[in-house]
Amino acid sequence: MTNIAIFSGSFDPIHNGHLYITEEISSRLDINKMFFIPDLNSKKTVADYSHRIEMINIAIKKISKNINPECWIIKKKFVKNYMFRSFCDIKRENFGSKIYLLLGSDSFFYLDSWQCFVDLIKQCVFVIILRDRSNRVKVAEKIRIIRDAYDCNIYTFDIDTLNISSTIIRTKILLNQSINFLVPGDEKKYICDKKLYQNANLNAFRNNLDYLKKQVKNNLSEKKFIHSLCVADQSVKLAEYYKQDIMKSYIAGLLHDYAKEFTSTEKIIMSHELGLELDGVLRQQPDLIHPFLASKIAQKKLNVNDREILDAIAYHTTGRSGMSIIEKIVYLADCIEPNRTYSDTIKIRELCYKNINQAMRNRLNSVVSQNLMRNRKIHKFSIEAINYFKMFNYSKSS
Ligand SMILES: [Fe+2]
Ligand SMILES: [Fe+2]
Repeated sequence: MTNIAIFSGSFDPIHNGHLYITEEISSRLDINKMFFIPDLNSKKTVADYSHRIEMINIAIKKISKNINPECWIIKKKFVKNYMFRSFCDIKRENFGSKIYLLLGSDSFFYLDSWQCFVDLIKQCVFVIILRDRSNRVKVAEKIRIIRDAYDCNIYTFDIDTLNISSTIIRTKILLNQSINFLVPGDEKKYICDKKLYQNANLNAFRNNLDYLKKQVKNNLSEKKFIHSLCVADQSVKLAEYYKQDIMKSYIAGLLHDYAKEFTSTEKIIMSHELGLELDGVLRQQPDLIHPFLASKIAQKKLNVNDREILDAIAYHTTGRSGMSIIEKIVYLADCIEPNRTYSDTIKIRELCYKNINQAMRNRLNSVVSQNLMRNRKIHKFSIEAINYFKMFNYSKSS
């Protein structure tokens, strides 16, 4: 008997993680024919359907021949219930075969929104690929509900996806970073040739990134430069999670400590030159000048004019009342980037992905208590921030 697998997903773009899953599932379930069906819903995808088809056709050439991979082209008249209609066509063309439907755990949560979901679930075996460790309990609960309601077969496989995701690849392209070894070489060439996943509005920023990196490198020690790159990367991760602007978060993270290693005198003189007013606390504790000065330098010397970026740089040390999400992201990224070993880093790292306001409150409280113990003055922005983050209800996630 032929064992067929249908791999459904956005494939935006298809990557080596998908190819690895294909090989793994095929050897476990003895699959001898694999159909890739890209999501037709353009609202959820970035690249056009035709490009995603082309990338699949290029990428699946790398899959073992005995799996017989094929990209299934959806007939336009079936747009509304393409999954079920495609399944019926595949079943008819491969009469007598056993059919498995592979789904990532993300797609699985939306399963019951599919048209003809009930017909589909009764006629094929569902295989859920567990990728994100954090949603396992939710997947198990969803499976229990579906099993209780319908007579159906659903299995889960725990497969290491090499920590690659389409989101990571799109972000790297946006930031002009290498995607070598994340997608097959020929697919990478296609993405470059067709300029996929680039955003015309961000081209000015992208062209500036190399210049900004050079400036940061020239002004910081190696240790601080690496810290800045790590804060930029960590800011992107949080921005992806909280659906914020990736490019703005990256630039704010990259520039946040630009003025950190200037001497106290340099900080005071440059503040004066750039029109940055210093209050009593800043004058007494010149290290506290560095975030505000970095923001001014970014604006006046590096031509960064975006208010959100400038504010995220300016308030990355004191915080403030009414912080924007990007401000919170950079503040917390500074605390949790992988080289940080503060006593509360592990706890804050966890909280960042559960409740960003609670993470802010905890970190602010801890910084302020440490500063009080060291007999340092607390800036009014930090006091206002602490009072601000007291106002949230921390029994709910936000
Ligand atoms: Fe800093
Ligand atoms: Fe920093």
